[in-house]
Amino acid sequence: MQQGRTTISKFLIEQLRGAEDQADLAALLIDVTAAVKSIASMTAKGALGGFLGSLGTENVQGETQKKLDVLSNDAMIQACEWGGLVAGMASEEMDDPYTLPKEFERGPYLLVFDPLDGSSNIDVNVSVGTIFSVLRHTKIGDPATADYLRPGVEQVAAGYAIYGPATMMVLTVGKGTHGFTLDREIGNFILTHPDLKIPEDTSEFAINASNERFWEPPVQRYVAECKAGKTGDRGRDFNMRWIASMVADVHRILMRGGIFMYPKDTKDLSKPGRLRLMYEANPIGFIVEQAGGAASTGRARIMSVPPTSLHQRVPVMLGSKNEIERLERYHREY
Ligand code: AHG
Ligand code: MN
Ligand code: MN
Ligand code: MN
Repeated sequence: MQQGRTTISKFLIEQLRGAEDQADLAALLIDVTAAVKSIASMTAKGALGGFLGSLGTENVQGETQKKLDVLSNDAMIQACEWGGLVAGMASEEMDDPYTLPKEFERGPYLLVFDPLDGSSNIDVNVSVGTIFSVLRHTKIGDPATADYLRPGVEQVAAGYAIYGPATMMVLTVGKGTHGFTLDREIGNFILTHPDLKIPEDTSEFAINASNERFWEPPVQRYVAECKAGKTGDRGRDFNMRWIASMVADVHRILMRGGIFMYPKDTKDLSKPGRLRLMYEANPIGFIVEQAGGAASTGRARIMSVPPTSLHQRVPVMLGSKNEIERLERYHREY
């Protein structure tokens, strides 16, 4: 190891010292980094790797699966199923939780993940990511779906990887949010962004504005005021960004502030939002809160929403605290 550099394993062992099942949690998060490295290697090959394009299959939510959605799902299972650290796993790409093969020991954790976030960006070579959430499995025996349905406040760890110009991992075990950059030459994640903090104020927002006519009035009001800029009620100009990979949009917010919204809309009345609670909103919410930001549905803290199903969707608004508080106020006043 080069002098003065903190590897992700050293960091985790130090941060988790004294915590319950500390060695197991550190080991599990290190297994996750193994999956992330193999996904990073596939995404980095681009059109040369033969991994682009769709499979022609659909996931439980009716989305066409990309090859990389499924390959990334397999990479995570392979990296984490054998070590006696998890009792089971669930993901966006599996209708039901994954039951470990008989030969593997069952461990104390449940791993819930979005193997490839932003999959519409794969074929256009724009940043994608992986999101994961770790919950405790307290019962004996293989977990049933109901055992996964724990609110976000019960997460023991959460994180994401971003496959951008550099591959990074950002994670929390409830002691702040920390960022690591993959050093490809040595094949290890190095602590580069300790103790990330999201500024309380911002003049930047991210939303898919093509849905504007379907939003609820409080969100329409908020965005209209941002767009009115200096001449409107806010008295200052706002900037807008939308990458369409939640991980990439959230990463920008962790680096320089801002807010991200995927609110409820009336485009498809059967869906109370676009993003999924268990493997998108909760882990990202935990990371954002640990960085001093806020994560809300507009009406409640995301991490206290009681889950009712594995693939449940929620409205999401997160980032700089004062703007999220304003959005919550607009929802109350409406
Ligand atoms: P996924 O690729 O895991 O299904 O998630 C996609 C999500 C999220 O990453 C992003 O913020 C959002 O979908 C983009 O939605 P639009 O295509 O409606 O902009
Ligand atoms: Mn998807
Ligand atoms: Mn996603
Ligand atoms: Mn996905």
